[in-house]
Amino acid sequence: MLVRHAMGVDRAQFFVALTDAVSPDIRHAALACARRRAEGEPLAYITGRREFYGLDLHVDRRVLIPRQETETLVDCVIEHCAGLEGAGDVRVVDVGTGSGAIAIAVAVRVPRAQVIAIDADAGALEVVDANRRRHGVDGHVSLARGDLLAPLAGPVDVIVSNPPYIRSADMARLPREVRREPAGALDGGADGLVVVRRLLEDAPRRLKSGGGLFVEIAPEQLGEVQELAGRSFPEGSVAHREDALGLPRVVCVYAG
Ligand SMILES: C[S@@+](CC[C@H](N)C(=O)[O-])C[C@H]1O[C@@H](n2cnc3c(N)ncnc32)[C@H](O)[C@@H]1O
Repeated sequence: MLVRHAMGVDRAQFFVALTDAVSPDIRHAALACARRRAEGEPLAYITGRREFYGLDLHVDRRVLIPRQETETLVDCVIEHCAGLEGAGDVRVVDVGTGSGAIAIAVAVRVPRAQVIAIDADAGALEVVDANRRRHGVDGHVSLARGDLLAPLAGPVDVIVSNPPYIRSADMARLPREVRREPAGALDGGADGLVVVRRLLEDAPRRLKSGGGLFVEIAPEQLGEVQELAGRSFPEGSVAHREDALGLPRVVCVYAG
C-alpha cells in the first residue's frame, strides 16, 4: 500500500504496473513512507485516507482514524431514522465528529437527514469540511465548533457520539500507533467517562420526544453507562448493541 501510495495509482493500475521498473523518485518516496511507518506512524496518516462505511475519507493527524467498530453506531442511527414517522427533515447531531466519519455516513445513507457535526477542535472541522465536499453532502452536514451540545440550537431527533472514553491513566499504555492520534480524541478523564457523563446530563433537554441517543463505549463500561443513561432518561428505555466481534459497543437510549 505504501508503494502504491508513492506511485499515486489505484489498486487496478498498481497490479497492471507490477512488472514495470520503478523510477528512482518513486523508490525514494516509498522508502520515505516505509521509514515513517517503521517509526510508528499509522498507515492512514501516511496515505491520508481511511475507508469507513464504504466511504473513502481523508484523515490526518488532526483527527482520530475512524474505527470499524464505530460503524455499529452508524447502523443504529440509520435504523432509528428509518423508524421516524413523516417525510420531513431528520435532525441529527454528531458530537465529537473528528473526521466527520459518522456525520457523513449518516448524511449519505439517510437523504432526509440534516446533520450538525460538532467538535471542540478547529482542525478537525477543516477535515470534516473536506470530507463532506468529497462525498457531496455539504448541503446536509453543517459544522459547529464548541463543547459537546453547547453550539446546538433547537431540539434534535438523534444525538450520536463516539466520545473520548479511555481512562487518563491508560493513555501512556496505548500502542505506539494510537499514541500518535490526538489525545483530545481519546482521553476520557480519570474514569474514562467524564465526557460521556456530561453528554448524558445535557442530552434530555436537547432531544425531541421519541428521539434516540447512541453513544459508543468500551465494552467494560456497559453497566455504568447504562446506569447513567437510565438516570438521565427515567421515562426512556435503555438498550445496547454489539459490534461485529460480539462486544457491547453502543448504548442506545430511546427518549420517552
Ligand atoms: C473518539 S474521537 C471520535 C471521532 C469520530 N467521531 C470517529 O468516530 O471517528 C472524539 C472527538 O471528540 C472531540 N471532543 C473531545 N472532547 C470534546 C468536547 N468537550 N466537545 C466537543 N468535541 C469534543 C475530539 O476533538 C475528537 O475529535
